[in-house]
Amino acid sequence: MTDPIRLAAEALAAGELILLPTETVYGLGADAATPEAVAKVFEAKGRPRFNPLIAHVADAAQAERIAVFDPSARRLAETFWPGPLTLVLPARADAGVCDLARAGLDSVAVRVPGHAKARAVIAAFGGAVVAPSANRSGRPSPTTFADAFEETGHAVAEAIDGGPCAVGLESTVVSVMDGRPALLRPGAVTREEIEALAGPLSGAGEGRRSPGRLALHYAPDAPVRIDAEAAGEGEILLGFGPGVGDPRWSLSETGDLREAAANLFRRLREADRERPAGIAVAPVPGEGLGEAINDRLRRAAGFVG
Ligand code: TXA
Ligand code: MG
Repeated sequence: MTDPIRLAAEALAAGELILLPTETVYGLGADAATPEAVAKVFEAKGRPRFNPLIAHVADAAQAERIAVFDPSARRLAETFWPGPLTLVLPARADAGVCDLARAGLDSVAVRVPGHAKARAVIAAFGGAVVAPSANRSGRPSPTTFADAFEETGHAVAEAIDGGPCAVGLESTVVSVMDGRPALLRPGAVTREEIEALAGPLSGAGEGRRSPGRLALHYAPDAPVRIDAEAAGEGEILLGFGPGVGDPRWSLSETGDLREAAANLFRRLREADRERPAGIAVAPVPGEGLGEAINDRLRRAAGFVG
């Protein structure tokens, strides 16, 4: 059969890797239950093994077989799934996410992706699918099929083209381990949206730290300078808002945060291809989606978040 969804599900069952489109960024998928398959993911990305992976599932029922949901976790799942929210929850024993995928932790990260093709592949496969962003470790996440293929296409048996990613930034990671939700990674679902539902999030450092939040991350080859007022010698300026820099390089000419999020990694990659002396980025406001955009920019620039 040549149905790409079916072929991808068969590749997963055979222990191979796939390129999985999601609404956030492209993922590098593997069978979450099989350590040999999961090991290929770490290998292809050059990812340190202490950094656990997200188990992607087709629906909330499948997530409940993997992880323990308390009432506030369930409320978050009901509101934001399918969509760009990852929940870090107590793992159930023998629930189909191997130790290597969880980096040996007693917690597990789960998410139901918003992209219909991702859910179709997972449902056809039947088990959970680990899928980190399909970039090599430390590089910007791919948000188009071509970028994903360039990063890790050499390592996959099947690749699904799901078009450009609508969100363009990785999912928000929230842990709900002991009743109190903590924000581990800002993302497309905003802090404000989560707090409206689950109450105040415990601050950075109080919650369990996300092992994957390395200081230099999401970085292109060119040095990145943030909160820049203008381009310096040999730099490309990524603007935000009307009249800031060359429109071709703008994150959003109208100052729209959704558009800026969708463009962020794409622009960083495009600018990098020009081999500039540096990439300067105009100030982006920090509220709402701006928190995740600024988090990625600070990390691309080499600052700890
Ligand atoms: O949008 C996304 O989340 C994308 C798409 C492909 O779904 N995936 C993604 O995966 O961004 P990755 O592996 O690049 O990021 C997963 C993050 C890492 O920061 C990792 O440390 C954290 O989630 N994480 C995973 N399991 C965890 C756990 N048990 N405890 C704390 N943090 C965890
Ligand atoms: Mg990543």
